[in-house]
Amino acid sequence: MDAKNVLLIIAGGIAAFKALDLIRRLRDRGITVTPVLTKAAQEFVTPLSVSALAASKVYSDLFDLTDEAEMGHIELSRSADLLCVVPATADLMAKMAQGHADDLASTLLLATDTPVMIAPAMNVRMWDHPATQRNLATLVGDGVQVVGPVDGPMACGEFGPGRMADVPDIVAAIEAALTDGPLVGKRVLVTSGPTHEPIDPVRYIANRSSGAQGTAIAAALRDLGAEVDFVTGPADVPPPAGVTVHPVQTAQAMLDKVQSLLPVDAAVCAAAVADWRVVGAADEKIKKDSKGTLPTLTFAENPDILATISQGKNRPRLVVGFAAETENVLDHATAKRDRKGCDWIVANDVSPETGIMGGDRNTVTVIDENGAEPWDDMPKADVARRLAARIADALA
Ligand code: C5P
Repeated sequence: MDAKNVLLIIAGGIAAFKALDLIRRLRDRGITVTPVLTKAAQEFVTPLSVSALAASKVYSDLFDLTDEAEMGHIELSRSADLLCVVPATADLMAKMAQGHADDLASTLLLATDTPVMIAPAMNVRMWDHPATQRNLATLVGDGVQVVGPVDGPMACGEFGPGRMADVPDIVAAIEAALTDGPLVGKRVLVTSGPTHEPIDPVRYIANRSSGAQGTAIAAALRDLGAEVDFVTGPADVPPPAGVTVHPVQTAQAMLDKVQSLLPVDAAVCAAAVADWRVVGAADEKIKKDSKGTLPTLTFAENPDILATISQGKNRPRLVVGFAAETENVLDHATAKRDRKGCDWIVANDVSPETGIMGGDRNTVTVIDENGAEPWDDMPKADVARRLAARIADALA
């Protein structure tokens, strides 16, 4: 990678101290960091320590005439390969979403057409507040890449989403955003994980998918430079950093989200979508009856997301499906490719004795219009990298 320059905007939140570690790690990787501190950030970290770690002047004042003479604020943001806001406070996110430009940080963010990444960090209630969620949706719609936040204990003593993503994850996302991979400029959608189909407010029907393979695929596509929309059911493994995460619960919600994200260049449907949902899921918890009468569940078929997007009007150029089978794997998978209308099917045997579901390794066969291509047994991360490289070739 050529030497890259990140304009790092540090906003005023308790997580600001982690920006110091981030600066050190980015510089260790040969990335130049130009730091900007908001006024509030200077209450949490000193310009002197930021300047020392970044080996750079710290910018903080919009009306610093010397800097305007040396380097105008337009030039400051244009000379960067990426603008990163770490931490992104609720206030700065609101300003960004509204297009305010009343200090150096917000002005730089408005005066740029360089990619922007934010790592939000705030109290869980502030994060969950509809205003913040509205601003977040606006920023995602504007093409801002969002890393985290994650669940965890917070400085304020509460627990939940709002804790800033870990610094190594932010570094990984920044490195991916700076990579000139073969998928730069391409948008790829990945579905992953199981779906949960409610029976009542506390019970649901699910399957044993861990989301590991879909998560690895999203990370591998990201590493090749793709902009990844990751639509995930409730998985066991956390989503990768540096992708846009869209959490859903049910098959219907997954389909709605997927359709709202089209058009994309390619779609990889790795989710283990429940085939059926319970008709008329109860609004209250179903109670045991004193006479011992057993409840009866009636099922309806769920929409098929893979078939819907393969046959729909906004069809991605490349649609990849999975076929998890326990017998006659190739025959079933080949028939599935024809029936659903996708381009490739990645088939695997998920019989319990293979240990594939929930395990680290996978043995797959990729079926396309030319026939079946068996791959050796390998870690799921390697399956993901090989599949991502194949996708990059197909989209080239
Ligand atoms: O029919 P089956 O579930 O075996 O097909 C597997 C493939 O279809 C996977 O790619 C899965 O993500 C996708 N699928 C889907 N929507 C469904 C069922 C399966 O997208 N309702």
